[in-house]
Amino acid sequence: MDKLLIEGGVPLMGEIAISGAKNAALPILCAALLSAEPLHITNLPRLNDVRTMLRLLGQMGVKIVDEGRDAVTLDASGLDNPVAPYELVRTMRASVLVLGPLVARCGEARVSLPGGCAIGARPVDQHIKGLEAMGAEISVEQGYVHARAARLRGARLFTDMVTVTGTENLMMAAVLAAGDTVIENAAREPEVVDLANCLVAMGAQISGAGSDVIRIRGVDRLYGATHRVMPDRIETGTYLCAAAATGGSVRLTGTSTSYLDAVVDKLMDTGCDIVPERDAIRLKAPPKLTAVSIRTAPYPAFPTDMQAQFMAINAVADGTAVIRETIFENRYMHAVELARLGAEIRIDGNTAVVKGVPRLNGATVMATDLRASASLVVAGLVAQGTTLVDRIYHLDRGYEQLDRKLAALGARVRRTK
Ligand code: UD1
Repeated sequence: MDKLLIEGGVPLMGEIAISGAKNAALPILCAALLSAEPLHITNLPRLNDVRTMLRLLGQMGVKIVDEGRDAVTLDASGLDNPVAPYELVRTMRASVLVLGPLVARCGEARVSLPGGCAIGARPVDQHIKGLEAMGAEISVEQGYVHARAARLRGARLFTDMVTVTGTENLMMAAVLAAGDTVIENAAREPEVVDLANCLVAMGAQISGAGSDVIRIRGVDRLYGATHRVMPDRIETGTYLCAAAATGGSVRLTGTSTSYLDAVVDKLMDTGCDIVPERDAIRLKAPPKLTAVSIRTAPYPAFPTDMQAQFMAINAVADGTAVIRETIFENRYMHAVELARLGAEIRIDGNTAVVKGVPRLNGATVMATDLRASASLVVAGLVAQGTTLVDRIYHLDRGYEQLDRKLAALGARVRRTK
């Protein structure tokens, strides 16, 4: 199993390019299921989660043409197997994003239930409730959601909580439904907007994406289109944190601060100087960071996917920070691993209190989920001596060429077995 060996203590300096957003790419790949014409996608990040989604779509009968570099064309004209098997869904919860498009296009879908995962229960009841309101008959048999509907009907949908993939699934289902759908309490995340833009390019009629009320007028069919995936705001935020924590100075290209207001704000509170440019961001860290308290909440508030990286920053900052995680229960697994490096963190329910220490020391730590692992890398880059991050397949799910990008910024990192 691959590990990442980090010799810490080197300030990150230089310039790297940010990849396309994983969380936009995954639903956009699923959007291809909605049309019998090809969908050409560019700025696609080469990540394990993207590969898993392509495998999943491939076994359903979608023809996949890898165009090299960051482009792929998906042709779902031969879609003949609307099933998402346990073996693939198990490794990636976002596989549930095929459910809405499959019922809408094929009138049927069998999708394995994602089940529990490392960061909490994460049920899909809201996805199911929404599809039922649109007239789907749904049963759960032997761990599979079986959904059927000759044609979905437009409906007024309200989700009990803000759910990102839930909003995306229902939006994709609604574009081919008969009549109008309104999704209230919709997720406002930029990735939802990126998906909506792709669907509109395919001929869908959607308004309000980016607000908490999305209106969709169902159409009879969607067409082929070309779409460029938006930049990954979490990858961007992670490199900004790594540069901040190491006292570095970096320029990140192919990205923008426009989807990162909450994160940029907090980084400026730590003392970082951040300059937005057209399609790029510059960050210069202060000699010593100031601790910042954060509270995660749905967009545009502070993203849960950046919580762990800010815990790493606070571990080496001046002062004490309070972190509140309101989206997922059990999303503090990185805290015990950070403690191995010398961090002082106290957890009480969904609150973490982080007292900054003058230095961290290298140790062997274990990656437990994608963003938890990112925080261990940030901390390892700051720590004196050698840090070995075990199980980095978690990182490969969401960070394209992490070791190469870090090396390009001067970090001393190496993959080992
Ligand atoms: C997406 C992101 C993930 C991010 C999360 C929150 C993708 C592929 N993943 O995950 O990186 O951390 O948003 O920003 O885009 N919930 C229910 N029932 C449901 C659906 C959700 O109870 O049917 C709960 C979840 O358990 C969680 C909360 O709602 O507590 C938000 O989850 P949700 O927004 O759905 O997360 P994902 O879409 O899975």
